[in-house]
Formats: sequence, C-alpha cells, structure tokens
Amino acid sequence: MEPFILQRLSELAGQRPPAGQEVVHFTESLAEAVIEEYSSVGERVLDPFAGYGTTLVVAERLGRRACGVELMQERAEQISSRVSADAEVITGDARQLSQLVSGTFDLCLTSPPYMTENDHPENPLTAYATHDAHYATYLEQVGSVFRQVAALLRPGGYAVLNVANIVADGVMTPLAWDVATAVRQHLVLRQESFVCWDRQPPGITGDYCLVFQHRDRS
Ligand SMILES: C[S@@+](CC[C@H](N)C(=O)[O-])C[C@H]1O[C@@H](n2cnc3c(N)ncnc32)[C@H](O)[C@@H]1O
Repeated sequence: MEPFILQRLSELAGQRPPAGQEVVHFTESLAEAVIEEYSSVGERVLDPFAGYGTTLVVAERLGRRACGVELMQERAEQISSRVSADAEVITGDARQLSQLVSGTFDLCLTSPPYMTENDHPENPLTAYATHDAHYATYLEQVGSVFRQVAALLRPGGYAVLNVANIVADGVMTPLAWDVATAVRQHLVLRQESFVCWDRQPPGITGDYCLVFQHRDRS
C-alpha cells in the first residue's frame, strides 16, 4: 500500500445516499486500492461493519466474494439492493461475528463506528440506539470483534481498517491509535497509510488505513 492515499471529498458526496451520515468517509476508490492490493479474484472479503456497503459493492465489482454484517436492518436492505444474490448480507451484531459468519476469509476491510474519548453515552456499537457507552468498553468490544476476525482469516490474510483521529467539542480523540492498540492484541500491525483529503472532512484530524495481518503468515 502507498504511504499516502489521496482522496477527494467530492467522490464521497457522489457515493452516499441523500440521508447518508457525513461522518462516514469511506470511498469506493479507497476500497478498490485495498481490495486489489490484499486479495485476488475469487477470494472472500468480509466487512463486519458494512454500513452502506462500499466494501461489498467494490469487492463484487473486482470479482471477489463479498460478505458483510450490518446492525441496522434498513442499511442491510440498502446493501442487498446494491449487490448480487451471491453476496452474503447479514443483519446482526458484529460483536457476535463468529456466530453469524462461517468459513475462511482472505481479507477483512472495514471502517468501525466511531466514538469520542469524552465519554458520550450513545453507544456506537448499538448504532447509537442505547445510552450505555464508555470509551474503554467500546475499545475492548472493537478489539473482541477483531479477535473473531483473526479466527476467520486464513493464515497470512489481511485486515485493513479505515479509522481516523477525531475532534469533538475541542477534545481530540486519538481513535485511530487507540483502535490500533486494541486490534494489535489479535493481529500484527504491518503498515499505516495516511489518507490525505483535498478538503478535510469535518471532525477528522488524521485519517488512516491501518493494515494488519494474521499472525501465521501463509
Ligand atoms: C463507519 S460505518 C461503516 C461505513 C462503511 N465502510 C461504508 O462505506 O458504508 C459503521 C457501520 O457499522 C454499523 N454498526 C454499528 N455497530 C455495529 C455492530 N455492533 N455490528 C454491526 N454493525 C454495526 C453502523 O450501523 C454503521 O453502518
């Protein structure tokens, strides 16, 4: 992966449904670069936080077998309308990933839901539907999702996370670095690529693609 990935905010606007969340800043060109670099045609690609389905749509376009988990029924339906019947779209909670998906994956590409360190009660891992969030618990649970991802990846397989450091109410949360620390307990951190925007999306300081690999190289 290149150490810098150039991104245009205008690409993002063109790829979001009208009611799309501004904070979601994961583009098809980013997904394309990652999927081409870390998987081959016919291989399986997983997104445990599938969102609007960017990973699945691009994976299919590039001849990979796509599988995604999304908590919100409405979004899962949106994804299903964007992919073929061969893609697996599962409505469910990624914290129970190992019960939702089976088999082995070659690549996991995702962008987790974000949380700021100044403990807001809305829980990102329930799509903000419950008010029981704590930053430390959030990080622990994100880590546990990637413990399950590690068990699903083939030896030598990659997990790539698009995650940013963020600012809210004047407080900076080093989310990318904290998530990296949580995920490193289960996968080996191989590389960071800096995502350079032509205009910085609101609330974001540094945006990264973090590249992890299964501990056992193939
Ligand atoms: C940052 S977005 C992912 C954006 C996606 N990469 C895209 O381009 O559309 C995170 C997604 O994770 C979903 N989510 C939140 N908690 C979840 C959970 N526990 N299990 C599965 N999905 C969850 C949210 O509803 C949201 O759609």
